[in-house]
Amino acid sequence: MYVCVCNAVTEDDVHGCMAGGCTTAKAVKAACGFKPGCGSCTKRIHAMVSEYRTASELADALTGGPLALSAVPEPALAEAPGPTAGPAAPAPIMPETEGGAETPTAA
Ligand code: FES
Repeated sequence: MYVCVCNAVTEDDVHGCMAGGCTTAKAVKAACGFKPGCGSCTKRIHAMVSEYRTASELADALTGGPLALSAVPEPALAEAPGPTAGPAAPAPIMPETEGGAETPTAA
């Protein structure tokens, strides 16, 4: 599909420029050989460059590319509380009754 009718530039042409290293609309226009025209394509080219940059940054983050994420360190096992450490045991839920309370039985 044509992005710029005045210069006969297609979406594939713009994508090719961005894949070739163009990171701004101005660079894309220069690489595609844009000549002054009506200007109605400028907004679309800016949007395409913005979408491409966002996708590239996301891909870099997911694949460990130039914007690699730093790893979150594992907590040290020696610092983990043992069975004797930690908060006190909770109070019983059922209050004790006098005279022996009936215990539920399986039917
Ligand atoms: S459509 Fe691109 S300059 Fe006219």
